[in-house]
Amino acid sequence: MARNRAHESWNAPTIRLLCRAMTDSIESHQKEVGRFPPPPAFSAAARIASHAAYAEKHAKSLEDPESFWREETQDLVFRTRFREGAFEEWKLPHAKFFGGATLNVSESCLDRHLTTSARTRAAIVWEGEPGDTRTLTYFELHREVVRLSAALADLGVRAGDRVAIYMGMVPEAAIAMLACARLGATHSVIFGGFSSEALRDRINDCSAKVLLTQDGAWRRGHVIPLKQMADIALEKTPTIEHVVVVKRVGTSHAVAKMHEGRDVWWEDLLARTPSPGARELATTPPAFDAEHPLFILYTSGSTGKPKGVLHTSAGYLASVHVTSKYVFDLKESDLYWCTADVGWVTGHSYIVYGPLSCGASCFMYEGAPNAPDWGRFWSLIEKHGVTILYTAPTAIRAFIRAGDGWPQKHNLQSLRLLGSVGEPINPEAWLWYHRVVGAGRCPIVDTWWQTETGSILLTTLPGACFSKPGATGLPMFGVDIAVVKDHGEECKPNEGGKLVIRRPWPSMARTLWNDGPRFHEAYFSQIEGVYFTGDGARRDEDGYFWVVGRIDDVLNVAGHRIGTAEIESALVSHGSVAEAAAVGRPDALKGQALVVFVTLKTGITSDRTLKESLAHHIDKEIGKFARPDEIRFTDALPKTRSGKIMRRLLKEVASGTESRGDTSTLEDLSVLAKLRADDE
Ligand code: WT7
Repeated sequence: MARNRAHESWNAPTIRLLCRAMTDSIESHQKEVGRFPPPPAFSAAARIASHAAYAEKHAKSLEDPESFWREETQDLVFRTRFREGAFEEWKLPHAKFFGGATLNVSESCLDRHLTTSARTRAAIVWEGEPGDTRTLTYFELHREVVRLSAALADLGVRAGDRVAIYMGMVPEAAIAMLACARLGATHSVIFGGFSSEALRDRINDCSAKVLLTQDGAWRRGHVIPLKQMADIALEKTPTIEHVVVVKRVGTSHAVAKMHEGRDVWWEDLLARTPSPGARELATTPPAFDAEHPLFILYTSGSTGKPKGVLHTSAGYLASVHVTSKYVFDLKESDLYWCTADVGWVTGHSYIVYGPLSCGASCFMYEGAPNAPDWGRFWSLIEKHGVTILYTAPTAIRAFIRAGDGWPQKHNLQSLRLLGSVGEPINPEAWLWYHRVVGAGRCPIVDTWWQTETGSILLTTLPGACFSKPGATGLPMFGVDIAVVKDHGEECKPNEGGKLVIRRPWPSMARTLWNDGPRFHEAYFSQIEGVYFTGDGARRDEDGYFWVVGRIDDVLNVAGHRIGTAEIESALVSHGSVAEAAAVGRPDALKGQALVVFVTLKTGITSDRTLKESLAHHIDKEIGKFARPDEIRFTDALPKTRSGKIMRRLLKEVASGTESRGDTSTLEDLSVLAKLRADDE
């Protein structure tokens, strides 16, 4: 068997050099390249117009949370408001908010707008990838949610039941989520990019009773046959009783085989006359306890299978409402566009619950940014008059690569505010976004948060605080966040450490579905008394946070959160693989690229076909978005004496060499391992 011995020439100093080069590149992203004060015209009309006003409100939110949250939730619909003293119970890791309050979350997002000018305002302006469009006013969105709620109630969905949603970016996804909320059923949206296997595991983990899906979804001119993919999952999901299917692409593009007695078309279901009981339930929905489960969203952790993050009602709604209102400075005249997918938390909080609770008009787009070409986003902004754009650094870097010509071809005058989320934004990308997309006129908010935090925790407020490209900014209201050393001692300004949250905040995850102990283990066991985010950061002399990224075994590849443990277990479930290790390598476009090191079972030869087979295996086990950027075969994984994989070493190897393209030779990492054995 051919072996690649190139690495044998690496010695300890070379490796140390490599290491330093990596740190340098992180540091260059962490340098201050300038301060951008809010444009005066923006501040003049902003809800919070000065740094002093922000600071005062932030201080009040921590000193007197009860009156802060009472005031800030005035607009939301509670059947019973929280009792006095309810906020004294706040102590990590337990967080029960708004004790005594009862509400139906959907009423704040829908019903409350029916008696205001929002009634006839667009709630969702949607465009499909082929160019078809649809607008739903608040009145129409409410009507559709009520209809679906009644229909689901007649299918047997009850408060507390779990409902899985496996859809693309169609208005029905939002309707489905809100209809579940209205019934008190807990939805679990599974991103449409997940494979049948991943869908099956998630449905089974939360024992969902009903699945809502669609025949197919448009993606770069192709159809993703969601119903066919769901059918494979449904072979082994004993709890699913009914499947509701939206006709999106039609039979000429995707054949959805309807399973008699189990499957029903969305339109046929809604055409049925609801029972009086179901109609009553949907029109005057019940109120639930503040802590009633709202949704479960699966995300990746540093170990084991995905975690079912559970969010509850009142606290989640309060946080997404307040952050949407102040961070995006939403106004009646805005058309706000968050480009995330509803399958991720950004879609939950900032396409559905947050903006709709504010009565905002939201733009929603079905397809990819480069379909049919890299001008699509800009043409959508021009065509619909989008005023606020909230997107991810990976997309921005891809736009930079595609060239300034695309945005410049379009009139982007309508834009007034830009947002970034999901990964650290490098100053180059920030500056391009500011100059080319925002024409120097639009403030940029770089929002840091996580699936578990439910809402934005760090940002600058657009009319109040200056931005520093690369820094995410300051704590949101009610947020007590810090950078600390291993034992919890706060770092000095500019000293790197772990990003932790010291007090509960209303939208924090309450637990992991079916796995309370893991919730404590994952977030509260590292540093006494605080929530550990998994991120590394520093806080500068102005109090601005600079988030470096994950310091645990979670990767952020093109804004997708990927657990190395999941990739590894998917790989070892392939018949040829003995052991696998997944690591991240810095990548100019994706932030991080996924590199896997694989050892093969005895007698198996490494070749290109095997590489392809491994890639397909990941597509099947997780989804195409988790496909490794590079697969490297090695005859042994470097391990410490106690048998731990030396990830740090593998990261260096993965980062330190040019992409190895198609070479499928085995490399010998044991020499490197020996060099480092004492270090780890
Ligand atoms: C991780 C959370 C936030 C919703 C989408 C991702 C990274 C997120 C930023 C930012 C630097 C960021 C962190 C975090 N991250 N936003 N503005 N600057 N890093 O949610 O999938 O739960 O991932 O994304 O590493 O821990 P998620």
